[in-house]
Amino acid sequence: MANLWSGRFEKGMDEIVEKFNASIGFDTRLYACDIRGSIAHVTMLAEQGIVSDEEKDRIIAGLEKIRGQIERGELEFTVKNEDIHMAVEGTLIGELGETGKKLHTARSRNDQVAVDTRLYVKDEILQIVDVLTYMEKVLLEKAEKYADSIVSGFTHMQHAQPVTIGFHLMAYFQMFKRDIERLQDTYERMDYCPLGACALAGTTLPTNRHRTAELLGFKAPTENAMDSVSDRDYIIEFLSAASISMMHISRFAEEFVWWNSQEFGYIDIDDSFCTGSSIMPQKKNPDMAELLRGKVGRVYGHLFQILTVMKGTPLAYNKDFQEDKEGLFDAIDTWKASVRIFAKMLEKTEFRMDRIAQTLTRGFLNATDIAEHFVTMGIPFREAHEIVGKMVKACEHGNKDFADLTDEELKEVDGRLSRASMPDLTMEGCVNGRTSFGGTAPDEVRRQIRVGEEWIEAL
Ligand code: ARG
Repeated sequence: MANLWSGRFEKGMDEIVEKFNASIGFDTRLYACDIRGSIAHVTMLAEQGIVSDEEKDRIIAGLEKIRGQIERGELEFTVKNEDIHMAVEGTLIGELGETGKKLHTARSRNDQVAVDTRLYVKDEILQIVDVLTYMEKVLLEKAEKYADSIVSGFTHMQHAQPVTIGFHLMAYFQMFKRDIERLQDTYERMDYCPLGACALAGTTLPTNRHRTAELLGFKAPTENAMDSVSDRDYIIEFLSAASISMMHISRFAEEFVWWNSQEFGYIDIDDSFCTGSSIMPQKKNPDMAELLRGKVGRVYGHLFQILTVMKGTPLAYNKDFQEDKEGLFDAIDTWKASVRIFAKMLEKTEFRMDRIAQTLTRGFLNATDIAEHFVTMGIPFREAHEIVGKMVKACEHGNKDFADLTDEELKEVDGRLSRASMPDLTMEGCVNGRTSFGGTAPDEVRRQIRVGEEWIEAL
């Protein structure tokens, strides 16, 4: 079969060139968007009197038929078809002859691939927002369940202050909320239709780009034809959002791995998310969490790949741009699957409060609370900090807890202290006291959960 562009050529393509040039191996997944774009295009051409209604009807029927054939796996494309756009159009021409040749009027593959990819990314954004929302719902549910459950919060991987598990989980809720908002922003900015920009400069034919934009569900047509065929910013934005979100997943996954370790034992990841060892019979490895932690690498890679591809490309279309798809598609698949699997894993995870309780007695988690209590006694914070530091030293000397320090020992640290001047030293007391906006007090966390639920309602 001669290529659809073979008019000015005397020779066919070299075999290895044909293979190297083709994108059909990875762009077939754009077929439904390509057909949608073509149907809108030919509808507009007929409305504008550029093709007849009868031609339009035959073309649309032909395209619908091809869609069915692709879906049923009845069409086999090879590198001879070059890309999905040529494959669909070539099949249509094979089917309809002369009429089929009219579809590509006032259109180029440059605006065609641009509109197909945008349609595809828009659809995928909605799907990823859906899985992220599912993750958010699981987080809200777990946060509610563990709103009063105390665990130590860490800084520098050292016990810092007591928090609740609900509070800790709500931190992830905020991260994934921003991920959703970033996707919504990207969607808004990319919601303009490049179809009809043609090769780079528009057309002499009386097309109506507003109409195709409307038919395809875009806000409006893109403003400048040259930009329309050269712009891949939305892919870069999408991959940036994907990278940030995968980084969140990786951080959360890391916490799962160490919470699941023998040293921590905070959680017991469900068997269905773990694997065994081929040599050590006792092992139950948190493979899913580790894989999720590692998947971020490929997504970062795709972001840097497209940034590098786009760098230095002159206006307008260049074949370099064909390199925009594989990484994009892989990032979509990876991101969607990662969020889904994480949400399911979290759904099945329960915290082992017995184990966690044992860890709360170490590390003087209530030190800051005592210092803040001294502030209410009129002691300046810096001084209070110093005093509590000395109390820690005294405890360490005597291998004691704050609550075990005697009146004499306290007096020795600072004349103003006595056991009666000590605040509620229990972990519950510490957590309940942190009622500042955004703090870890259970009532405050419940407020955060409510705000989160309202935000999801309004999505
Ligand atoms: N397969 C091409 C791509 O993905 C389609 C556009 C080709 N346009 C061209 N002028 N060669 O970018």
